[in-house]
Parts: sequence; structure tokens; C-alpha cells
Amino acid sequence: MTNLPVNFDEPAKETLVAAAKKVLKNNVLGTFTKPAPNLYPHQWNWDAGFIALGYARSDFRQACAELTSLFRGQWANGMVPQIVFSVENVGKYFPGYFFWETHGIPGKPRNKRTSGITMPPVHGFILNRLLQLAPDTKASRPYFRRMFDRVVLLHQYYYRFRDPGREGLAFICHPWESGMDNLPTWEEVFKSIHFDESEVPPYERRDLDHVDAPYRPRKHSYDRYIYLVNRLRQQRYNEPEIWNNYPFQVQEPMFNAILNHSNDALIELGKWLGRDTGRLREWQNQTNRALNSKLWDESRGIYVSYDRVQGRQIPIATAGGLMPLLCGAPDTARAERLVSLLQSPSFAGTRENPAWLCASTALDEPGFDPCRYWRGPVWINMNWLLFHSLQRYGYHPLAARMRSDSLELVRKFGFWEYYNPWKNLPDGETNGGYGANQFSWTAALTLDWLNA
Ligand code: SER
Repeated sequence: MTNLPVNFDEPAKETLVAAAKKVLKNNVLGTFTKPAPNLYPHQWNWDAGFIALGYARSDFRQACAELTSLFRGQWANGMVPQIVFSVENVGKYFPGYFFWETHGIPGKPRNKRTSGITMPPVHGFILNRLLQLAPDTKASRPYFRRMFDRVVLLHQYYYRFRDPGREGLAFICHPWESGMDNLPTWEEVFKSIHFDESEVPPYERRDLDHVDAPYRPRKHSYDRYIYLVNRLRQQRYNEPEIWNNYPFQVQEPMFNAILNHSNDALIELGKWLGRDTGRLREWQNQTNRALNSKLWDESRGIYVSYDRVQGRQIPIATAGGLMPLLCGAPDTARAERLVSLLQSPSFAGTRENPAWLCASTALDEPGFDPCRYWRGPVWINMNWLLFHSLQRYGYHPLAARMRSDSLELVRKFGFWEYYNPWKNLPDGETNGGYGANQFSWTAALTLDWLNA
């Protein structure tokens, strides 16, 4: 945890804290908090983890409830779904529960409506952080014991069902599983996925009711997202079948770094609970080795995704490619290269055209777009993860910049889903915040950074 100085005078800090708490209060729906008022009216997987941190110091019960509520949607095989749908908000989001056709899939909890895919497993390290902030660790022990078992089961799912080669790297089977839905990386994978228009079931987007089209994925990408959901539901979410006959199987560096940082955290938690952590240690070693041997791009000095189906790396620089710092994968030399890239024009811009850290897609990638979902905008959760990654390696001034850039963006524009990475906005534009406003994890992580 950080004790770095806050760049705010006290009244400004108090105002920000009060505003952030209000965002959470307006988005809470009983045992969970929706990510945003209108665009995302259900519970999302990794959102729940970040959101829990926003409550940890002021309402510990709610912080715990967020994860409990999410894990009620856990499938018998361990998979924790990307969305647990709220019955009240039926019809307000696409793709809703019925579109996923998960009803009757063996192992899905019968009393919970869920999607059929997963998301980056932040839960292990979030849980560990909650333990550090728990007002009464003894009283909370049964909660941590229960959650430890559930998160280990989730990790077992990844190593059993998403790592058929037993390499130590879990693959994702949909861009939505990465959490970074709209990276140019996926467009590259899509180039080798061929299908007929008739294989995309008819659908109607709801996201564009709330956010203008230039800020959201294009139709070309959305058709492919829906084609993939259709394939998964036709294949009844059956993993062994997916391994052999399914076109989108990508080993992505951030997903695996998050998984492995959660392995680190589970080892610590396991020790505290007096559990055997042998298997977690094996996973931890194997995943760090595999990140380095398979996902490192020596020419660009960053980690990149690997397309299992085509058998090739996808050489596109994204913020996720810096994330193996989170789990201690890079040695000092590689860490240095990552950090120089982060400070180079690829992510930091130039003196004439400076950028806020950290663009989701590198500023010099051909697919970069400062406004469009994941094609470039800054995300506060990514910055929070990078802040901890940099601290792990002792890059404290750069970590501090990650935090102050984030807080500055929030203070300037409000609690947006994402932000324009350029410090100089085009003439006449004054708002650099995009997507959903009153976004829960932006508020939650602001609170965590301000120790509030
Ligand atoms: N974030 C996705 C969406 O845009 C789903 O996880 O709806």
C-alpha cells in the first residue's frame, strides 16, 4: 500500500472523495454495484473486484458482498462468468441473459443468470488486499476461507480447461474475456476467421443508445463478437470441443499476468489460512516461465498476444503488454525495456504532444484511436494495475506519475469510463472523458488511491 503524498490540498481531496462515494452509492443495487448507471446494468466480473476496493475502508461488508455476489454465479467447473445478470434489469443490455443460451448448460448455477465466458481473474489479489484492510481479520476469517477455496477452484479451471497444452498460459475465447474488448489485436485475429453473414444471428446493439458510435466498437468488430458468441453457444460452452474446433483462442499477456499475480496472492492467503500452497507455486512458476518464453516480443521490447489457432504472435503494443510486471515475470533487463517503452513516444507522447499515462493501445500503433473504446484511451483500472506493477520493481517516481495522471484526469473531467490520452485536446474540445459517466471502478480506485 502506498503512502505517497497526495497532490491535492485537503479540501480538493475531500470534494473528490465525496463525489467518488456518491458514484458508488448511486450505482449500488443491494449486494452488488453496477459498473455504470445505464450502459452496464448488471454485475461484471473484474469490475466487481475493483469496485470492492472502493468500499474496503468505509464499508467493509459491502466490499466483501461484491465478491460473494459475483461468485454466486460461479459454475461447477470453477468458471466465474463475465456477467451475472440482475433479474430487474432484463432487456436493458445486449447481449442479455437469453442471448447467451447458458440455461441448462451442465454446471451453471440453476438459480443464477450468467453469460458463458469469463474475465481477467483479479479476485485473488483483490481478496488479499481486502485482508490487509479488514477491520477485524479474526471475524472475517470464515469469509476469506470460503473465498480462497472458490478462487483456487477458478484458477484450477484456467489451468485445466484453458491450457490444453499444459504450458502455464490460459487462453481467452472471446475479446470480451480480455476485459479490453476492442484492442486492434483482436482485429488481427479476426483476419483469419472466415464466416458467412448468415452465421451472425440477428442482433440489436443497446450500447449505442447510451454512447455515441465514434467512442464504441465498430459494426465490423461487433459482428465478430456476436459470431463468436453464437459459436460458443452452439458448442454448448464445452471446452474440449472448443480446443479442437473454435477459431478464437488467444494467450494474452495481461490476462495471464493477472492470473499469476492472483496466484502470488493466494499463496500468501493460503499461508495465513494454513493451507497447502504447493500447486499454486507450480502454477506461479510455470506461468512466469511461459510468459517469458512465449509472449515476449524481443524486437519491440514488450509482451504480446499469441494466437493459438494460427500459431503466431500478434505484434501489437498495448498497455496489457506491460502488465507482466505485475506478477514479477520480467527479469531486470526486460523490466528496463518495458519501462523505457512506457516513457517513450509510444506511450508518453512527445514534448510538443504529450500524453497522459497510459494509452490502452500504443500511440504509434496503426490501429490507435484516441477516442474509441480500447483503441487508445486511458483506463483508470489499467493505471492502477500498472502503478502496482511499477512499485513492485521499485520504479517509484513513474508509479507516482501513473497515480497523479489518473487523479488529475478524474479531477479535470469526472468519473468517466475512459479518457483521451492526449493532453492537448483538439481545438474547441473541453471534455476528455468518454464512454459511460459515473463509472464505478474509476470512483472506487480513486478512493483506494486516496486511502478513503
Ligand atoms: N464490456 C462489454 C460491453 O461493451 C461486455 O463485457 O458490453
